[in-house]
Order: sequence, then C-alpha cells, then structure tokens
Amino acid sequence: MTARLAGKHILVTGAATGIGRAIAEACVREGAKVALLDREGDSVERLAAQLRGEGHHAQGLVADIAERAAVEAAVAQARKLSGPLTTLVNNAGMNVFHEPLAMPDEAWQRCLSVDLEGAWHCSRAVLPDMLEQGGGAIINIASTHSFSIIPGCFPYPVAKHGLIGLTRALGIEYASRGVRVNAIAPGYIATPAVEAHWQIFDDPAAAKARIEALLPPGRLGQPEEVAMTAVFLASDEARFINASCLTIDGGRSVVYHD
Ligand SMILES: NC(=O)c1ccc[n+]([C@@H]2O[C@H](COP(=O)([O-])OP(=O)(O)OC[C@H]3O[C@@H](n4cnc5c(N)ncnc54)[C@H](O)[C@@H]3O)[C@@H](O)[C@H]2O)c1
Repeated sequence: MTARLAGKHILVTGAATGIGRAIAEACVREGAKVALLDREGDSVERLAAQLRGEGHHAQGLVADIAERAAVEAAVAQARKLSGPLTTLVNNAGMNVFHEPLAMPDEAWQRCLSVDLEGAWHCSRAVLPDMLEQGGGAIINIASTHSFSIIPGCFPYPVAKHGLIGLTRALGIEYASRGVRVNAIAPGYIATPAVEAHWQIFDDPAAAKARIEALLPPGRLGQPEEVAMTAVFLASDEARFINASCLTIDGGRSVVYHD
C-alpha cells in the first residue's frame, strides 16, 4: 500500500460490483476510509464486511441514488460513523437503450433519474462537507456515450452528455473554494453490465469478439484500469485538474473509419 489517499473519506456509489467495486477496493488499498453505497444491500454489506476483515476502513450503505431523501440519509450515516466526506465517486448507473419513439415514458424518467439526477443528489449531499473543509473532489463516471452516439442506445447518451455538463458546471462553480470536479469516460469495460449486454445477441460470444476486434488493443478494459484513474483524480496528485474528463477506451474513440 502506498497510502496515496490517506486522510480521505470517500463515498463510492454503485460499489457492490463492476467498476464501483474496483474503485472502492483500490481506494481502501490506498489508505482511504470508504463508504460503499449501492441499492443492492446484501452485496454491498458483504463487500464492506470483507474489506473490514482485510483490515480496511469500509462501511456499507443502502440507497437508490434516484431518491434524494435516501441519499441524504445514507450520507448522514457515513458522516456519523467516519466523519465528513472529502471525496465522492458518482459511479452508479444503468444502461437504458431504446428506439426513441418506441421508448416508454418510465424508461426516459428512470434513465435521467439514475444516470444524471442521481449524481446531483449525491453531489449536493456531500458538497457542504467539502466546502466546510475548504476542498474536496468529485469524480463522475461518464462514458464514451458522453461524446458519441450509437443508434438504438437512447436515452443513455442524453444522461451521460448531461453528466459532463454537471462536471463542468460544478467544477467551475466551486473551484475557488477548493473543490475539483472531474469525469472519467470509460469505453467497453468487462463488468456484469457489459456481460449482460452480450446476452441480448443471438450469439453472445460472436458479439463480444466483434467488439474486441474494433478496440485498438484487441481487448476490453478491466474495472481496475478505471479504478486507478479514479484513485489518481481523487488524490492530491491531481490538484490542478478540474472540470475535465479522461477517456479510458484503449484509443477506440480516436479511430477514424473511412
Ligand atoms: N462497463 C462499461 O463498459 C461502462 C462503460 C462506460 C460507462 N460505464 C459506467 O460506469 C458505471 C458502472 O458501470 P458498471 O459496468 O460497473 O455497471 P454494473 O451494472 O456492473 O454495476 C453498477 C452498480 O451500480 C448499482 N446501481 C445501479 N443503479 C443504482 C441506483 N439507482 N442506486 C444505487 N446503486 C445503483 C448496481 O446495483 C451495481 O452494483 C455506470 O455509471 C456506467 O454507466 C460503464
């Protein structure tokens, strides 16, 4: 352990699995106290207990980030047990993919509530702690869908474009008070959500192989590769990085196809 995050108290949302889990694990390994929030209570409590068993400071919190009151209550619980929050990783999110005109109203509402508004609920709950302490860091897990459009994936990219707007707006709003707000835009990362995505195809293995062939390194990214970027942005090493977004997609979004 190098303790790059010693002294930080970090709230990671969607921490039960996938990218959020990898971020929570990397943060405790770097010496942070971590509050792991997820709507899947059993899984997140189990993971927090496992991390405590390994000697780390970890607390499980159960909330749906779409519910502002539940988020406020969870943050209050984290604060009570481990002190004010210094850092927030807005990772929880979900794929909502529809042909726009065939989309039910509830799908639009749920996507915007979780993938965009949820990050705002969490941000407004922890920002007072950060402002009181004279600084902090927020990291929003966006997507390459924040910049590019794949037909049939509506309205997920609408929310993820909005998350970049939230990153930039809050980053500028609170920069003079020491709060940095940045985003990470992953491309294809091997997580349970992506594994589930392959299953919609008749031949899941062929669908995965087709995507791998499109990625310059010839493989998907790993959750740990996103996690180490989150560690960097959360650390004081990144103290002059604000209102910015780092893409982690193996270079895929730079490729020009003729
Ligand atoms: N995996 C990828 O390829 C990829 C690419 C780009 C962006 N992302 C983004 O990264 C983030 C994590 O993705 P993942 O692939 O690890 O997803 P995942 O589905 O594997 O895990 C998401 C976690 O978030 C939790 N969660 C979902 N909605 C929630 C809610 N409303 N309240 C509380 N918890 C909730 C889930 O229970 C789960 O534990 C998401 O924001 C996603 O949009 C993922």
